[in-house]
Amino acid sequence: MKKLVINYVELPSRIRKPLWRLWHNLILKYDKGRPESFLNYGYHGDDLEFSHFRLSEEDLPDKYSIQLYAHVARHHDFSGTNVLEVGSGRGGGASFLTRYFKPQTYTALDINQKTVDFCNQHHRAQGLKFVQGHAEKLPFDNEQFHAVVNVESARCYTDIPGFFDEVKRVLKPGGKFLFADMIRPEDYDSIVNHLKKTGLRIVETKDILPNVVEALKKDTEHRKQMINSKIPKFLRKSFYEFAGVEGSGRFKEFDTREIGYWSFTLEKPLN
Ligand SMILES: C[S@@+](CC[C@H](N)C(=O)[O-])C[C@H]1O[C@@H](n2cnc3c(N)ncnc32)[C@H](O)[C@@H]1O
Repeated sequence: MKKLVINYVELPSRIRKPLWRLWHNLILKYDKGRPESFLNYGYHGDDLEFSHFRLSEEDLPDKYSIQLYAHVARHHDFSGTNVLEVGSGRGGGASFLTRYFKPQTYTALDINQKTVDFCNQHHRAQGLKFVQGHAEKLPFDNEQFHAVVNVESARCYTDIPGFFDEVKRVLKPGGKFLFADMIRPEDYDSIVNHLKKTGLRIVETKDILPNVVEALKKDTEHRKQMINSKIPKFLRKSFYEFAGVEGSGRFKEFDTREIGYWSFTLEKPLN
């Protein structure tokens, strides 16, 4: 199981999909008490980067996962805009961005229906809704959104260039694509080429691997405690792997730069 988690992205998509479903179902089964709302590795930045908001007590345990969203979202003024998130997972990022930055609507899409149901039950905020759908075939008309958010999800897709084309299609002219994911160094150029081919303009790309590694170091104890309190012993090592705690194979891959982590801001040209 641990090996499957480490090598997940290299598996053929017909195996990846049921495995991902199984993983989600395990999380839903064992996640009792305060529900976990994030499935990302987090980001540690200096206080200046996040001086525009102050987390409430109840959001503090998710500080690093929230900071990844705040970092990715930094080039868009959410106020009064229509936002789409693709691959919203357990909804913590969607909830954070909606509660703190007040878009008019925030539509959060995920492929997993049970996760979508969980999110609609657990996250309530003005304008926020969770829907089921596929990243490669977004169920929306052209030019509906001022921004599309995508955090640590695209690497799971079968057709990443197809997803990027869909993002361009649903963005309004001038709209932003706010994107971050782990990327193997040998795949970086091809991802950037696919992004450029869509016709979206690259506003900024940033190597955020040091920020992600630092977040994992700082959050390891919290992640382990959370896993130990919820997950039966025989599954804990796989969950440590999934959570990227210090000492896991995933953490080592980050620490030795076998896998990178990048954030991107792109903009759809006005014409
Ligand atoms: C690692 S999780 C990240 C979730 C969330 N963005 C976060 O940072 O907590 C990746 C998410 O992408 C979703 N996903 C995978 N393939 C998808 C697809 N083809 N279309 C939509 N969502 C997908 C998964 O169901 C999962 O919830």
